[in-house]
Amino acid sequence: SKAKMILNKDYVIGEVDKRIYGSFIEHLGRAVYGGIYEPGHPTADKYGFRQDVAAMIKELQVPIVRYPGGNFVSGYNWEDGVGPVDKRPKRTELAWMTTETNEVGTNEFFTWAKEAGTEVMMAVNLGTRGADAARNLLEYCNHPGGTYWSDLRKAHGYAQPHNIKTWCLGNEMDGPWQICAKTADEYGRLACETAKVMKWVDPTIELVACGSSNSAMPTFAQWEATVLEHTYEHVDYVSLHTYYGNRDNDTANFLARSMDMDAFIKSVISTCDYVKAKKRSKKKINLSFDEWNVWFHSNEADKKVERWSVAPHQLEDEYNFEDALLVGSMLITLLKNADRVKMACLAQLVNVIAPIMTENNGAAWKQTIYYPYLHASVFGRGTVLNPAVKSPLHDTKDFTDVPYIDAAAVIGDDKNEITVFAVNRNMEENITLDIELNGFGQFEVIEHIVLEHSDVKAVNTKSNPNNVVPNTNGNAAIEDGNVKTDLKKLSWNVIRLR
Ligand code: AHR
Repeated sequence: SKAKMILNKDYVIGEVDKRIYGSFIEHLGRAVYGGIYEPGHPTADKYGFRQDVAAMIKELQVPIVRYPGGNFVSGYNWEDGVGPVDKRPKRTELAWMTTETNEVGTNEFFTWAKEAGTEVMMAVNLGTRGADAARNLLEYCNHPGGTYWSDLRKAHGYAQPHNIKTWCLGNEMDGPWQICAKTADEYGRLACETAKVMKWVDPTIELVACGSSNSAMPTFAQWEATVLEHTYEHVDYVSLHTYYGNRDNDTANFLARSMDMDAFIKSVISTCDYVKAKKRSKKKINLSFDEWNVWFHSNEADKKVERWSVAPHQLEDEYNFEDALLVGSMLITLLKNADRVKMACLAQLVNVIAPIMTENNGAAWKQTIYYPYLHASVFGRGTVLNPAVKSPLHDTKDFTDVPYIDAAAVIGDDKNEITVFAVNRNMEENITLDIELNGFGQFEVIEHIVLEHSDVKAVNTKSNPNNVVPNTNGNAAIEDGNVKTDLKKLSWNVIRLR
C-alpha cells in the first residue's frame, strides 16, 4: 500500500523549542546513585560522576533535565542536600520507601548538568512544604550574594549563582500517591502564592503549574481549569504526564497510543484557552510535557523492593523494539504540537525507565528507546512543517482510523536541511511513501536511517547491547524532485535531505 506526504516550505506548525528534547533525573532507584553518580566507578571524574554515562547523555544533546523529582520532591528538604556531605542527614524517603543519603544535592546536580552540557529544570516541594522553602531555594540558587541564602551558597563553595530559569511548582499534586496531595483549589492557591513570591525573588524565571497526573485521572480536565483560574497570570506552563504499557500484549493497539497522547495535548490546550477566554487574558499558557515514556515492564519486580534500602533497582524497565516504535511516535506527536508544547521530558534518563542503563561498577549501554530519542534530539531542531499526510488507516482495540504512517518533518534554521521522521505501524507490510516537496529548491537524500527488527520483543542487554540498533539502509531517493521510499513494516525512519 501507499502513503503520501506533502510538504510546503511556507506551511509550518511552529518553531521547535529545543527543550522538548528534555529528560528527567529523580532521586529514585539508581538514577542518581549508580547512574549519573558512582564515585568508585573506573570512569568517575573528581566529583564522582560517571563519564561513560555522561558521554551518552552528551551524544543525546539533552537540552534540559528535570530534577530532583517526581514524587520524591514532595517530601524533600532541599537543605538536607547542601553543605558538607558528611553532615547531611539520611532520611526515610516516603515516595519510593527507600533511604535517601543526600550525598548528591542541588549543587552537585548543577555541577553535573554543567559538565553534561545541559540545563536544570528545578522542582520545588509543594507537598510537605510550601512558598517559604521554595523562595529560599530560589534565593540560594539564583541570588548573586549579600543575603542569607545566597551567602550560604557561597560558603558552600559556589560563588556564582546557578541562574536556573525553569521551575516546577510541585509534582502530580492531584495523585493520591503523592506526599501531601491536594485538591485543585488547595493546590491552585498554594501554587499561585508560591509563584508570586518566587517571581518577586527572581522575575526572570519561568514557572510550570501541575496539570493532572495523566488524562485518566477522574478530575482531568477540571483540575487544569481550576488550577489555572488560580494561577493564570503567575505561571507560564501547565504540565502533562503520561506513560503507556502493552500489558495485554496487543502490539497494534500499543503502537496507536500516541493518538491518545495527541488527544491529551489538544484537550489541555483547549482548557488553557478556555481559562484565557474566561479571564479575558492576553497571555497564552504553553505546555510542558515533563514526563512521558513507556512504563510497565518493571511493575511486578518493583513490588519486591526491600523497604528502606539505598538506591535499589527500581523502575528498571528493559525496553524492547516495539517500545522504541511507540517512543518514536510520541516524539512525532510532540513535534506535531510544537506550537504549544515548549518543553517535554523523556522520563527518565538513566536506569529508571530510561534510555541509558548501567551496571554498578560496570558497563553502561543504550536501550532501544535511546535511538528515536537521539535522532529526534539531534536532527529535529528548527521549524516543524505542517504536512498533509495521507496514509492507509486501520482500527485497533481502543482506536479508530489509526494511520499506518505517523510522520512529521522539520526544516533546519539554515533552511538547508529537512528531516522527515516516520513510523510505519503496519505489522505485515512495507508501505511506499511519496514525499512531495513544494517550494524548497533542490534537495538530495543524505541519509535514510532505519530502526527495524524481526522481533518486536527484542531488547538490548549488557551482554548483547547492539541487538536493536539503527542502520542506514533505507532506500529513500529523489525522483522528479520528490522523495520516494519504502518504509519497512514496523520501522522507525529518519530521512535526511539537504
Ligand atoms: O517518573 C516516575 C514517577 O512517575 C514520577 O516520580 C512521578 O511524577 C510519576 O508518577
